[in-house]
Amino acid sequence: MSPLQYGLTPKMKPLTPRRSALIAALDVGTSKIVCLIARLKPHPPQEVLRRRSHAIEVIGLSHTESCGMKAGSVAELAAAEGAIRHAVDLAERMAHCQIDAVIVSLSAGRPASELFAASVDVPGEVRENDIARVIAAGSQLSVRDGRVVLHSLPIGYAVDEERGVRDPRGMLARRFGVDMHVASADIAAARNLMLAIERCHLSIEAMALSPYVAALSALADDEADLGAAVVDIGAGTTTMAVFSTGRFVHADGFALGGRHVTMDIARGLSTSLQDAERIKTLYGNVHAGAVDDRDMIAVPSVSGDDREPQFVTRATLTRIIKPRMEEILEMVRDRLAASPFASEPRGRVIATGGASELTGFADLAARILARPVRIGRPLGIAGLPDGAKGAAFAVAAGLLVYPQVAHLEHCISRHAHRLRAGKGGGYFARVGQWLRESF
Ligand SMILES: Nc1ncnc2c1ncn2[C@@H]1O[C@H](COP(=O)(O)OP(=O)(O)OP(=O)(O)O)[C@@H](O)[C@H]1O
Ligand SMILES: [Mg+2]
Repeated sequence: MSPLQYGLTPKMKPLTPRRSALIAALDVGTSKIVCLIARLKPHPPQEVLRRRSHAIEVIGLSHTESCGMKAGSVAELAAAEGAIRHAVDLAERMAHCQIDAVIVSLSAGRPASELFAASVDVPGEVRENDIARVIAAGSQLSVRDGRVVLHSLPIGYAVDEERGVRDPRGMLARRFGVDMHVASADIAAARNLMLAIERCHLSIEAMALSPYVAALSALADDEADLGAAVVDIGAGTTTMAVFSTGRFVHADGFALGGRHVTMDIARGLSTSLQDAERIKTLYGNVHAGAVDDRDMIAVPSVSGDDREPQFVTRATLTRIIKPRMEEILEMVRDRLAASPFASEPRGRVIATGGASELTGFADLAARILARPVRIGRPLGIAGLPDGAKGAAFAVAAGLLVYPQVAHLEHCISRHAHRLRAGKGGGYFARVGQWLRESF
């Protein structure tokens, strides 16, 4: 039975700490599909990237054009299915193996977050089943019509009046509470993506929000501890994940991205989308004043006929690109201002996604967001070729890190909802296992 029925996406079994695993990641974007197959091997605790329990080595990779997608959502099922099959097939050939399950990212469906607080009376000492009870009470609040829960993470406990407790076990209390972060998206976006993938005879091990997984691959632990926002600007979506004291506390997103810049260029210069895309990546720039007004670019005519190309200056191109990038960044700024990031004065922004590769992007973003900005890339992943080491691959690479942190998630919600529906079964046992692995 599909977990979507309970308002939940599939959640994977946590990785066994001392076992190797073979996993596959699938990032179906608006412009490109990335499929990665990797071997995860346990390694001792590291100084950098402390939260990773396993070393990751990519053994199969494909990077292909996306089809049938619009603003991060499936717009044409058959086209998307064909493109996904092709991408998976190429990665399988390179890895010399076949995969039957994938971990998937989602950037569409208006990602959003809610914080829930719930509390229960405890007889004295906080025990594991009190934690289970309070988390179950918190998660009962979280499911809404038309939305699907992608992440459900306890972000702090309250023992009587004391908030922000990390490990409450054994503490004495009368009232015991939890603050939970629940990140959700529109159910239709999740359902259609799952459908397209399942039609390729692949099962979905887990579905994770793109900006969260981008953070898992591109964010340094210290940055997450000090407070940070990861902003993934793709072709059709811009999504954000905020971290505070090392924890994922907020997600947001909207349907604008690099493709809108390309469309502005095509319209403004009367050229095809293909030529506009090429001109953008070759000559695009958002540094006003940094380009010579005499520097000319040849622009083929839109119909591709024999007419002579027109010539425009680079400054003209900048004048088309910049307002759209400013619009996107201003929306990011306003949304971050309304998020927990506003109370992280030292927090920096890490930008990922292909659109952040635009020349001059980091400076423009730093000016508009009034924060230090750096471009994020996948960190600590072996076997990535040079072409896949950039910001556009942060999401796909992050899906390979996700199994290492999946145990932090409140993966029992489905069982809690079954429990509510009177089906019961192993609920507290699962909670106990989850708690043992969470601390
Ligand atoms: N060097 C570059 N300069 C400017 N833009 C670039 C550059 N490289 C890639 N882009 C733009 O980045 C966008 C693609 O980014 P990305 O691959 O992250 O998107 P996606 O994952 O397919 O889309 P989404 O995540 O929104 O569904 C395109 O609009 C592309 O034009
Ligand atoms: Mg993307």
